Amino acid sequence: MSKQINTYTCLSLDDFGKGIIKDNKNTFFVDNLLPGEKAQIETTFNYGKITSAKVISLITKSKDRVIPKCKYFSLCGGCSLMHLDYKKQLEYKRNKVKNLIHKFTNIDIEVNDTIPSSDIYNFRNKIQKPLGVSKGNPYFGYYQESSHKLIKIDECIIESALSNKICDTILKLIKKYKYNIYNEDTYIGNIRHILIKTSSFLKCLVTIVTKDENLKGRKEFAKELISYHPEIEGVVLNINKNKTNVILGQKEIPIYGKDFIKDKIFNYIFTISSSSFYQTNSSMDETLYRKAIELASLSKDDRVLDAYCGTGTIGISLSSKVKEVIGIENNPSAIKDAFFNKKRNNINNINFILDDATNYINKTDKRFDVIILDPPRKGTTKEFVLACKKIKPKKIIYISCDPVTLARDLKYFLPEYKVEVVQPIDMFPHSYHVETVCLLTKK
Ligand SMILES: C[S@@+](CC[C@H](N)C(=O)[O-])C[C@H]1O[C@@H](n2cnc3c(N)ncnc32)[C@H](O)[C@@H]1O
Repeated sequence: MSKQINTYTCLSLDDFGKGIIKDNKNTFFVDNLLPGEKAQIETTFNYGKITSAKVISLITKSKDRVIPKCKYFSLCGGCSLMHLDYKKQLEYKRNKVKNLIHKFTNIDIEVNDTIPSSDIYNFRNKIQKPLGVSKGNPYFGYYQESSHKLIKIDECIIESALSNKICDTILKLIKKYKYNIYNEDTYIGNIRHILIKTSSFLKCLVTIVTKDENLKGRKEFAKELISYHPEIEGVVLNINKNKTNVILGQKEIPIYGKDFIKDKIFNYIFTISSSSFYQTNSSMDETLYRKAIELASLSKDDRVLDAYCGTGTIGISLSSKVKEVIGIENNPSAIKDAFFNKKRNNINNINFILDDATNYINKTDKRFDVIILDPPRKGTTKEFVLACKKIKPKKIIYISCDPVTLARDLKYFLPEYKVEVVQPIDMFPHSYHVETVCLLTKK
């Protein structure tokens, strides 16, 4: 398809925050275009009836348009809604959840208003950045959407301010220690990614992901880094030898200090290792868990399954309200943390099992009154849902970070379960992502 320039009016936003426009033949998906806005559009890419396009000039502006605070907005693509007023972002997310549930299940369910994030800048407690080199100087960046082009980014305003500063020092030290940056095309070089987790106590854990574990002077590097930033409690080396875009490898070597961070949720202290999952917006952890616990309306006789439990944060947070909790998780590092968290918080009615959630639920003969599941983005499995239905819990709490897989999985729960409450929570301001907590009750 040859490139064409035409004038259109945007009809709505798609599930990725792109403006949708249509003509007689095609549907176009356009970055940085809001509903009601008229613009000159140039087509950029065509796949069947679906066409990407970019704005050449904006003719009329939406009253919901705001100036994005980030100087990389048009290049990076990570915060694809930053040009939309925050209240409207929340509305968009609510409608997205509602429409997707309707599309997959055919039920017209009431979806609550999205709970806003307490912080909408500097809220991300975890960063994982690839590196590039320009004229011999290393830099951090993010990949441009749907491309392998690394955009140099000096500061990311949704990430913790502290981790931005640490990144600056890491670049200086990488140069000083003459470390090579990994090139994913040639497979040459060593440093692949830097991960930084920041706790709400403003303590950090830095993970250096390398192709090779021979990183000369790594202990001195770590010590020097900590001397500039005493907030760093530990530096870990993660080795990923594979030609892959998966960030972390299997092997980890603590280089200096601790190999975990500690954080507080309600009155519990949690240990989180470098490769264990942790919710990325600490300002909203308690809001999310409080909502899940409130919807479960637990009683002292309840036995709860916390499937996809990570480091045990949800199960431990609700343990005092119930008789027994079993947490299932397939990441050995997270399960190790979960056991540690059980011990350090003196919880006696919780147990953790290292297993695939579907595998566990298929073979267990335990009865559960409430099942909580918080799977990764790809959702759960149909087998998990069918096994869940056999157990017949009174309530199911489904926590999801992707409404597409949530909507797909909710369908499997019907008709034996009713989708009673759907509560979107904004854990990811400025992006099209949304967290959702659902209550399903046994009919
Ligand atoms: C979205 S996180 C939720 C973790 C925890 N509930 C929390 O709030 O921190 C999903 C978790 O599921 C785990 N996981 C992924 N696939 C799994 C599977 N097939 N079986 C069990 N756990 C799995 C991941 O390692 C991760 O810890």
